[in-house]
Amino acid sequence: MYTIAGRHVLITGAASGIGRALSGCFAREGAHLFLGAHPAEEAKIKTWADELSGRYGVKTWTFPVDLSHADGPETLYWQVNALGLPTDVLVNNAGLIAYGNLHQIPLDRQEQIIRVNALAYFKLMRLILPDMIKRGQGRVLNVSSVSAFQPTAHHAVYGATKAFVQSLSEAVNAELAGTGVKVATFNPSYTNTPLLKGEGFPKQLWWYAFSGLNSPEEVAEKGFQAFKADKSFYIPGWHNWFVHAVLQRFVPRRLAVLISALVLKPRS
Ligand SMILES: NC(=O)c1ccc[n+]([C@@H]2O[C@H](COP(=O)([O-])OP(=O)(O)OC[C@H]3O[C@@H](n4cnc5c(N)ncnc54)[C@H](OP(=O)(O)O)[C@@H]3O)[C@@H](O)[C@H]2O)c1
Repeated sequence: MYTIAGRHVLITGAASGIGRALSGCFAREGAHLFLGAHPAEEAKIKTWADELSGRYGVKTWTFPVDLSHADGPETLYWQVNALGLPTDVLVNNAGLIAYGNLHQIPLDRQEQIIRVNALAYFKLMRLILPDMIKRGQGRVLNVSSVSAFQPTAHHAVYGATKAFVQSLSEAVNAELAGTGVKVATFNPSYTNTPLLKGEGFPKQLWWYAFSGLNSPEEVAEKGFQAFKADKSFYIPGWHNWFVHAVLQRFVPRRLAVLISALVLKPRS
């Protein structure tokens, strides 16, 4: 088991959804939090930080930094570093999605998704891992998705960024053997957060009939327990696990893509 009390945990995208729920789990068990958020959510993240400090007696700091900016991840890293405190756990969580076909979604929007979902994850890991290795301890929890395991038609770039994060996390975790530092992924299925309520995202997808739309609190609690148990990857929900981690391996790739194109269509 990985102990949480007294750790310093950096969580990106902590103002809403899964990141907010995860930060609640870490605070409840006594971790001090560096809470990252988009600058548009500065007031919201400050209120949440005060609530966590008041409720659990932990220390909190807020960092409203835009991770899609060219030097956003570096800015966040240096701002946290300036406190002179170690980052014991990095939770890469901030994320974006856009629904539609690749040739129709504006190019700059898709580039922004790649910057936040892939480049920022990579950069923060690359910046923080050397400090963790020097101290001989640390954890990175990358919030990936079940979308990492097969292409996701109609939000192709999103799935591709999650596949990138998955491959990166597994490879780097292997490189870190014997250092005291580990990289894990947390792979939820579709979860009821603002991510799926943005402009253009359908109210219902056919796939929800199978996966359901989980609550962020429930999903985060399961992911948190798996993190504490030092699992290197975790998919909440046995049916999600069976489809994405087991069945998918035995289905021909072309069939998996075909199914994805059908079930990820809007359902009226
Ligand atoms: N919801 C799902 O179905 C689902 C399933 C599997 C995995 N995930 C993953 O879970 C993670 C959290 O997503 P969520 O569902 O909890 O969605 P969410 O509630 O929208 O949370 C994402 C957070 O990231 C922040 N963010 C976006 N762009 C940013 C930027 N440029 N700089 C800094 N922060 C930024 C968002 O701020 P703004 O609100 O201001 O944009 C938001 O607070 C993501 O990595 C997502 O891919 C989600």
